[in-house]
Amino acid sequence: MHAPALRSKIVRSLFHTHMNAPRFQGKVALVTGGNSGIGLAVARALADEGARVVVAGRNAETVAAVAAGIGKAALGVAADAGRLDGIDRIVAATREFGGGRLDVLFANAGVATYGPIASISEAKWDELMGVNLKGVYFTVQKSLTLMGQGGAIVLNASVAASKGDPGGSLYAASKAGVRSLGRSLGAELVGRGIRVNVVSPGPIETPIFKRAGMSAEAEANLKSAWTERNPMKRFGTPDEVAAAVLFLASDAASYMTGVELLVDGGRGSF
Ligand SMILES: NC(=O)c1ccc[n+]([C@@H]2O[C@H](COP(=O)([O-])OP(=O)(O)OC[C@H]3O[C@@H](n4cnc5c(N)ncnc54)[C@H](OP(=O)(O)O)[C@@H]3O)[C@@H](O)[C@H]2O)c1
Repeated sequence: MHAPALRSKIVRSLFHTHMNAPRFQGKVALVTGGNSGIGLAVARALADEGARVVVAGRNAETVAAVAAGIGKAALGVAADAGRLDGIDRIVAATREFGGGRLDVLFANAGVATYGPIASISEAKWDELMGVNLKGVYFTVQKSLTLMGQGGAIVLNASVAASKGDPGGSLYAASKAGVRSLGRSLGAELVGRGIRVNVVSPGPIETPIFKRAGMSAEAEANLKSAWTERNPMKRFGTPDEVAAAVLFLASDAASYMTGVELLVDGGRGSF
């Protein structure tokens, strides 16, 4: 083969190798709420890109089904990520599965409750904050026992963290807290070589709305109102959020920490 032809073949094969190099090969990831919606898309995408993934969620059946669907590269853990004993179990299982290492944490488990302030009981407040804010905080705290230099944490907040929306006060306050954690924990962990970033999705097509306890009619009304006011006039998909989460968790984002990446069809910006 002539030298130029050989050179271009080598360049092509290097390029090809680079393009196909799995970004998370050899890495261990933990996805809370990995058995549904956005977390499920992220767990699958991480596994597709070479990671070994711990999928944590409450529903033992869907956790097991998702882990089995991914195969040997996944471990399912059924536990409540809003309780410290549940988080302890998730982290202990991750320690064993990952041989004591954790490279990527996607703290994603969350619930939604909507309603005017008068309708929010203390029990609803405690339940939602317990999962969305306290759960995220202690999931990070306990996961850090496994994470070293080069670790990447992505927190799932929401565009709701920075928008006022009637009926959204409780949910939005929890997500504003999560967004804030990205800044403070990012600052606290930068010296340990651990990056903390936040993804803030806009409306994404997942089961979360059905589970928010509203009637089918209220859900349909909310969805059409949110579609109409979204600059892109549609809901996003879990895969569109997963693309951003994997970017933040990857070495491509090596100079990024404390940021919030909106995946929201423009809702939070205009
Ligand atoms: N969909 C949207 O429009 C949207 C927009 C912005 C932000 N988000 C955020 O994205 C995250 C994922 O929501 P999603 O839309 O994908 O909804 P989803 O399909 O309902 O998923 C929520 C996930 O969180 C898990 N989870 C909830 N409470 C838990 C607990 N106490 N312990 C362990 N796991 C728990 C659920 O597990 P089980 O199924 O086992 O209960 C499920 O896997 C949430 O934090 C949500 O606030 C969603």
